[in-house]
Amino acid sequence: MRTSISESILDDLLRQAALVAEKSYSPYSGFRVGAALLLDDGKVVTGTNVENASFGLTVCAERTALVKAVSEFGPRIRITAVAVANLNGAASSPCGACRQTLAEFAERDALIAFPAGREIRTMRFDELLPLQFDMKLEK
Ligand code: THU
Repeated sequence: MRTSISESILDDLLRQAALVAEKSYSPYSGFRVGAALLLDDGKVVTGTNVENASFGLTVCAERTALVKAVSEFGPRIRITAVAVANLNGAASSPCGACRQTLAEFAERDALIAFPAGREIRTMRFDELLPLQFDMKLEK
């Protein structure tokens, strides 16, 4: 586990994720999700899910936050923690598409916190997505 990220920082990220979930555009599922990314320089970028009548065009909260972060701060961003929240009292770990998308910018030991049953579960990114597809030849 990454020791440099304190519980209070993760709690704050979870709060920001829940806050941005209030802005969710989810008229089809009613599932309101928020995500907060912590960058290695301490910046926090949030995002919510944006649905579409053509369901496949829906963008998840995690990918909204990621696209915002790159657009705002450029292609060299590194993610050291991700918090996910929903306002439906449900479990919601990042979906497979979001995991692979985050993999481009997340440290292997980034902490990912998300609702799982009645509790918040925290795990390393490389536990959440082992064997990620990666075309970069050198690290
Ligand atoms: N959703 C997210 O925002 N993040 C995920 O990782 C999984 C699902 C959204 C997409 C859709 O608007 C709603 O949750 C129901 O699938």
